[in-house]
Amino acid sequence: MSFFDQVVDRKGTNSSKWDGLKNVFGIEDAIPMWVADMDFKSPPEVIEAIKQRADHGMFGYTVVDSEYYDLVAQWMNKRHKWEVKPDWVVTSPGTISALSVIIRTFTNANDTIVIQPPVYPPFERSILLAGRKVAYNNLILENNRYRMDYSGLEKLLNKGAKMFILCSPHNPVGRVWAEDELLELASVLSKHEDVFVFDDELWADFTYAPNEHHPLLQVAPHLVKRTITATSASKTFNLAGLENTNLIIPDENIKSKFNDAMFSLALSKTNLFAIVATKAAYKYGEGWVDQLLQYLHENFEFMKDFLKSRIPSLELVEPEGTYLAWVNASHLGISSSKVADKLLRIGHVAVEDGSTFGPGGEGFLRVNYAMPRSLLEQALNGFQKALT
Ligand SMILES: Cc1ncc(COP(=O)(O)O)c(C=O)c1O
Repeated sequence: MSFFDQVVDRKGTNSSKWDGLKNVFGIEDAIPMWVADMDFKSPPEVIEAIKQRADHGMFGYTVVDSEYYDLVAQWMNKRHKWEVKPDWVVTSPGTISALSVIIRTFTNANDTIVIQPPVYPPFERSILLAGRKVAYNNLILENNRYRMDYSGLEKLLNKGAKMFILCSPHNPVGRVWAEDELLELASVLSKHEDVFVFDDELWADFTYAPNEHHPLLQVAPHLVKRTITATSASKTFNLAGLENTNLIIPDENIKSKFNDAMFSLALSKTNLFAIVATKAAYKYGEGWVDQLLQYLHENFEFMKDFLKSRIPSLELVEPEGTYLAWVNASHLGISSSKVADKLLRIGHVAVEDGSTFGPGGEGFLRVNYAMPRSLLEQALNGFQKALT
């Protein structure tokens, strides 16, 4: 049995994914395939580091040490071939809290910000809650694969949009943007020097060969004066509950504006255990991540075979990265919200209705398959019961 085959009961552990089911879906008795965290334990070295620190018994105010910044930079260099300098790294309590501050700091009220739906819903929410406007540059689905609409983006920037949010790799459609796609994107952005760029690379470590993640600033360093990149160990090592994201900000001027804004909102804080866990993860976790990716890939293949033989009307978009399957349910002849509801009531599986990811999401389901294979099989049996 592999490490990732272990089924660990998460009920009653303050898990959003498990203990939040009742609140969000109205039932407790379902296998959750929604929130993007994994039903796997973190690497043993990470657990051990947290235990050792807990044994110390004092949990006062925290500073980030230089080894932390070195390890984040080394991880980016090693895994993503991006030569990050340790002093480019700034911690924040979360990606979306940082994004909310960035929107308020680098754009003005009523400015327009471009997102590329279907995409992670908090992008849109953060824009609207900050009193800015959203413009959609919809991804284009062609031959069951998504691509960016460069001319659509150019039109929106020509109309005066002030900020662009890239999701790379892209949640929920699973694209890992290739180098030439990022170059083409950068060439559009180059024509609009006043456009700020937020590059969300939280899923960078989840790519399936032959796909490789390319950090935007590594491909297009000339965007450095107006780009902030977000990255974290939270998805990769299942540490989301520790609340920590790294912003990589090579430009001194942007970094100091961002730091001032975080300080003014009392957000320049770091969780002690996030520091301890991230250091252990980046120091010892490479081999674990490689095994995790192999397991996730096999999970996807298992799911693909299951659906092909038992529910062929569900069509999968092949993920190049992430652990989120983007499932086309439109051939079932009912809305994706009805499909999700049947899956919940009859199959006892909780998935996300694609329409919540914005334009282009209707007809799809987002299904988190980061779980032990036996649980995945149980969930897929639920799909079969509900839909056949
Ligand atoms: C693309 C993307 N960005 C950000 C987040 C959440 O980040 P945080 O919990 O650090 O706010 C998620 C979580 O699923 C995500 O998929």
